[in-house]
Amino acid sequence: MDGNGRWAEARGRRRSEGHRAGTETVDRLLDHLVKIKVPYVSLYAFSTENWRRPRPEITALFNLLNEFIITRLDKMMAKGVRIVTSGDISRLPKKSRDLLENAMLRTGRNKKLVANFCLNYGARDEIHRAAMRFAAKQIAGRKIKIPKEKEFRALLWQPEMPDVDLLVRTAGELRLSNFMLYQAAYAELYFTDKTWPEFSENDVDAAIFEFGRRKRKFGGL
Ligand code: IPE
Ligand code: MG
Repeated sequence: MDGNGRWAEARGRRRSEGHRAGTETVDRLLDHLVKIKVPYVSLYAFSTENWRRPRPEITALFNLLNEFIITRLDKMMAKGVRIVTSGDISRLPKKSRDLLENAMLRTGRNKKLVANFCLNYGARDEIHRAAMRFAAKQIAGRKIKIPKEKEFRALLWQPEMPDVDLLVRTAGELRLSNFMLYQAAYAELYFTDKTWPEFSENDVDAAIFEFGRRKRKFGGL
């Protein structure tokens, strides 16, 4: 979800206003995905690298997350959105953690759309943790057994989420930036110059239309 800052700067507004506009996009997007029956979405909201930003911006981002959960939770219940997270949320401000934990609990049985909020998320961190957890289990079991790929995958943050089919990056950046390196091995990549606050329901449809035109062979013929 890139380009909040640029969206704001181009309008002579503060970066935090760009982030606020970005949350409106998340809100609209979730409604739209429920409507068009997309069952899973992961939103890269805060990366393991985003801690390098100035403290006031980090605070503003988590305050927006808190506000988002407080104001949208009832709506997510009504729409059948289940909230899950990826990333070590123990490093997040306590208020955000508490709100997230409550939201995950309350929405846990919703069935329409799984919305995976990636917070303090980095794909390398995710894979490294999975490898460490696997090693720890091996040592505890006192026997060395090479994991099946499936067993390793079960140690990622959200093993029940399927592989990424379509990965959308906004604001003209042509990078993965440490996002879902494992799960996006065969993802179709879609890049758009639109900033995240500008990204609309029509843009979602356009991305999915483009996805439908791609020929996916997963290494076969
Ligand atoms: C994305 O927008 C916000 C986050 C997920 C942290 P940016 O803040 O990266 O916006 P630009 O790149 O400065 O335009
Ligand atoms: Mg950016």
